[in-house]
Amino acid sequence: MWGGGAVSDEDRLDRAETGKVLRRSVEFVEPYRRWVWLAVVFVTLSTLCTVAGPLLVKFAIDRGLSKGSATALNAAVIAYCVVVAINYIVGRQQYLAINTAGEGFLRDLRVRVFDRLQAQSMAFYDRNKAGVLVSRMTADIESMGELIQWGLLQFVSAALLLVFTIIVLLVLSWELTLVVLLVMPIIVVASIRFQRQSNRAYLDVREKVGQNLSTLQEGITGVRVIQAYHRQGEQMRRFNGSNRALYDAHLHTVRISVWYFGLVEFVGIFAIAIVVGVGGWLSHQGSIDVGTVAAFVLLIGNLFEPVQMLSQLYNTVQSAAASLHKLYGLIDAEPDVAEHPHPVPLPQRGALVAHDLSFRYDGAERHALQHLTLSVAPGERLALVGPTGAGKSTVAKLLSRLYDPTDGRVTYGDVDLRLASMASLRERVVVVPQEGFLFGGTIMENVRVARPSATDDEVATSLERIGALDRFLEFPEGLHTEVRKRGSRLSAGERQLISLARAALVDPAVLVLDEATSNLDPGTEAVVEHALESLMEGRTVIVVAHRLSTVRRADRIAVIDHAKLAELGTHDELVALGGKYAALASAWERSQPTAN
Ligand SMILES: Nc1ncnc2c1ncn2[C@@H]1O[C@H](COP(=O)(O)OP(=O)(O)OP(=O)(O)O)[C@@H](O)[C@H]1O
Ligand SMILES: [Mg+2]
Repeated sequence: MWGGGAVSDEDRLDRAETGKVLRRSVEFVEPYRRWVWLAVVFVTLSTLCTVAGPLLVKFAIDRGLSKGSATALNAAVIAYCVVVAINYIVGRQQYLAINTAGEGFLRDLRVRVFDRLQAQSMAFYDRNKAGVLVSRMTADIESMGELIQWGLLQFVSAALLLVFTIIVLLVLSWELTLVVLLVMPIIVVASIRFQRQSNRAYLDVREKVGQNLSTLQEGITGVRVIQAYHRQGEQMRRFNGSNRALYDAHLHTVRISVWYFGLVEFVGIFAIAIVVGVGGWLSHQGSIDVGTVAAFVLLIGNLFEPVQMLSQLYNTVQSAAASLHKLYGLIDAEPDVAEHPHPVPLPQRGALVAHDLSFRYDGAERHALQHLTLSVAPGERLALVGPTGAGKSTVAKLLSRLYDPTDGRVTYGDVDLRLASMASLRERVVVVPQEGFLFGGTIMENVRVARPSATDDEVATSLERIGALDRFLEFPEGLHTEVRKRGSRLSAGERQLISLARAALVDPAVLVLDEATSNLDPGTEAVVEHALESLMEGRTVIVVAHRLSTVRRADRIAVIDHAKLAELGTHDELVALGGKYAALASAWERSQPTAN
């Protein structure tokens, strides 16, 4: 049998951390306290039954068989049956009780973690990669599930069994107990060694599984490139290498188990031989009963098994504690773009102003933006242009408070965005991402994401307003078409239309757009442009522009270069200035002769 979880040295918790995790867990388990106590009662009962069996056998031999008393023998047999029956029932109940508590605990934990994840800012997601967060919710929760489902009870029952058995043995015959305990050090030392080795081996297996998986994944997702360059042989060699390493790692774990379990079995048999030999001699001397020797033989397994169990469960418990520690860390992470404790609603209309904004991404060496001061009047359209990596998207993110600036502030109608209520902020200022994400569900539901209270008519109207309704009504199932179903995959243009319809549904005063860089085919392009134009009508617009046509429709243009505002003015002014924008515009004119 293999112990399950393993824990690396960097994950292993120290005393103080373990204490903290325990205290936190007690708090989380609080609603299920009743079930935990029930499980403890059941586990104690069940352990007592396990120890009682051999004692009844002793009673049957000494009082029944030796003395030839049928009554005593019958009583022992009946009592034995009752004990086994109780153990059977209690054994089931204890698993029910601990799993009711454990699964409830995990369910609450998942909710708390997910809730916190949803509240976190973009900056948080820059710091924490999606894959790691997903593994918190899957691998870390799973490692605890494993512990709860079978480990926790076994851990407690092993400890109880060890204590109860030693007490019973001492009471029965302390001399024989001392002889038996002489072999215990061998088991204890071997178990500790096994626990360390198996932990290391299991970590190794986990690493090799990961490596093997990533070569597999590369081989599948990169199959086009691999075949295009005829790299199958090379890929196969790499896979063979990682596969071989996995095989070796697994075999290593088998070898460790084989020596350990072999040794434990041997020592167990050796101990029984000692008991029979020494016990037989003692009983011959008349200092103990024959039944006592029999009870010893039956009880001796209860000494070795718990030590074996505890050494294996030790790794599982430690890895679960490490997982819990990480999960509690997620729950405790305060969202950094949080709502002010006394938020004020944003006014209906107003100028959006950046006051001396500077921003640096977490962990980045350079500022992504420095000392930007800019005012966008109500109803004005401002285009942000500049080379790639200049900081245009960063400006858009700050103006819509996806991030808080490192220095300076953003105001709307003279209210600092940091003081504004989140609800009013997301009503006034809507960010339309380059590629709108589609959730599982219908087109209708996907547009409604922007405002869950919207009626079907309102959703249809918002699509109508951007001129996209007819296009979707042409689908056989109209707006009730599932967006992820096979055969009804939406095109890039259609996805953008849904994204724009969401914004139209909110009907915000300010629209922040990060224009898609990918090109659509001219037909779709025209539809999306038309939708965009209707959406922008009558609103304040800040658009990160990658197309000359978009720039030409703007009232003013801000050129962002090397994290700074380089130029600001109308198209004509900036062309006349003959600076960066003039160069950019003439490059655009040359490359897009058909653009207006
Ligand atoms: N999440 C992030 N974490 C760290 N650095 C970032 C992050 N996003 C952007 N940057 C860096 O900040 C700088 C500005 O990025 P930004 O996305 O604002 O550029 P951009 O002008 O929008 O470029 P593009 O035209 O390519 O979209 C770049 O140097 C970029 O590498
Ligand atoms: Mg960008």
